[in-house]
Amino acid sequence: MKTPSQIAMTSDHAGYEMKQQLRKHLESKGIKVIDIGTYRPDAVDYPDYGHQLGEKIGKGEYPMGISICGTGNGINMTTNKHTGVRGAICWSGEIAEMARKHNDANICSLAARYTDLDLAKHIVDIFVSTGFEGGRHERRIRKIDL
Ligand code: RB5
Repeated sequence: MKTPSQIAMTSDHAGYEMKQQLRKHLESKGIKVIDIGTYRPDAVDYPDYGHQLGEKIGKGEYPMGISICGTGNGINMTTNKHTGVRGAICWSGEIAEMARKHNDANICSLAARYTDLDLAKHIVDIFVSTGFEGGRHERRIRKIDL
C-alpha cells in the first residue's frame, strides 16, 4: 500500500508526549502530520479530542489517524462513535498488520502508558504501510456501521 501523505493525530494528556515523539517520527519519513491536540501536557478529557479526530476521519477529510490516551481505550471508544471510523487498539506489530489487512482500520489507537516508544514507532510504521486485503473482508467491514 502507498503510505498516506498525511495523517491526523490526537491525544489526551496521557498520550501527549508519545504524540509529540510519533509526530517527529512520521515527519522524518516525509508524512505531513495534522496535529489536532492536545497541545500541552495538562489534564484534559479524551472525548474532546477523540471526537474531533473521529469527525475528520469519518468525513474522509484525512485518510488515516492516530489516537493516543493512557490505555488507548477511551479515545478509541470515542472515535468509533463516528460513522466510517474503524479505530483499532494496536499493541503489537501483528495486531496493527491485521487491523489494516482484515479490518481496513483507519485509526490506530495506542496505549501510551503501556506501550514503549520504540514499539509504538514499529506499530505505526506497520499501520501506515499495510494495505487492506479486501475480498471477504470488504463485505464484513460494510456491516460495521449502523
Ligand atoms: C487518563 O488518566 C486516562 O484515563 C486516559 O488517558 C485513558 O486511559 C482513558 O481511557
